[in-house]
Amino acid sequence: MAGHNKSDYMGPVSPEAIVSGLESGFWGEVICYQTSGSTNDIALLHPFNDSGKGLVIVAEAQEKGRGRFGRRWASPAGVNICMSMRISPEIIEGHASFLTIMAALASASALREETGLDVLIKWPNDLMVSGKKLGGILAEVKSERGLVRKAVVGIGINLNTPACDFPGEIADTATSAYIETGCFFSRAGVISRVLNEFGSRLSSVGQSGSGPLIEEIKSLSSSLGRQVSVTVSGSNTTISGLAEDIDDQGMLLVRLASGELKRVSCGDLAEQEGGNRC
Ligand code: BTN
Repeated sequence: MAGHNKSDYMGPVSPEAIVSGLESGFWGEVICYQTSGSTNDIALLHPFNDSGKGLVIVAEAQEKGRGRFGRRWASPAGVNICMSMRISPEIIEGHASFLTIMAALASASALREETGLDVLIKWPNDLMVSGKKLGGILAEVKSERGLVRKAVVGIGINLNTPACDFPGEIADTATSAYIETGCFFSRAGVISRVLNEFGSRLSSVGQSGSGPLIEEIKSLSSSLGRQVSVTVSGSNTTISGLAEDIDDQGMLLVRLASGELKRVSCGDLAEQEGGNRC
């Protein structure tokens, strides 16, 4: 872990700096843009070779950065991480439902190592520090006839943003590694580490199944043991109860006041104040 002066980390991130920190041959092309629409769109549209290696797209700024549920993802230029990983359909087949979990764990683990912060995961995709949002994951999978054709995982991390640069509407709920520590961090260093951590989890799910991922997500979950409200994707329903467990598919088990246990595959979760984390 290292904190740094701003002057050491000015300037755009280069593919060479990212590649120099990679520990395996899992990743192929790494492309850095000054400005993009959404890095997820670029990764989805970019010609993808059949080498089986992953493609990485990074942007200093996004004009159309998006989050889950069509929300806008705002990130000031040149200070944070906006990246997308495109993974070979053959490699991800059978594990696509774990993409968000793998990316959240890879990001949380990389940030814990690089910044020393106690980064937790608000199910299913938010990276949290001190109850505020440090980053988020947007996985997008295109399938045809039940087969994965394209798989992209976008990661946005507020790394070096000063408090004054957050738009008013998220100023109270968002944070950055800089705000939390007073230090600036190398974006290339964090990106390489996220890529290493993601690649190693993807190989481990292929070899040992999802069990270790589920144990890890439980240990880093900010949601378990707390009262939560979840607006369930694909319906207008909101359920409230105790976030009791995460099952072997990565789904959240919520115990309603009636005693019924609801299994939620995807949704927008709010944690109630002051709950206990197990
Ligand atoms: C969320 O918390 O709702 C997910 C945010 C994901 C943002 C990242 S930034 C890089 C990639 N490109 C996008 O347009 N979105 C993701």
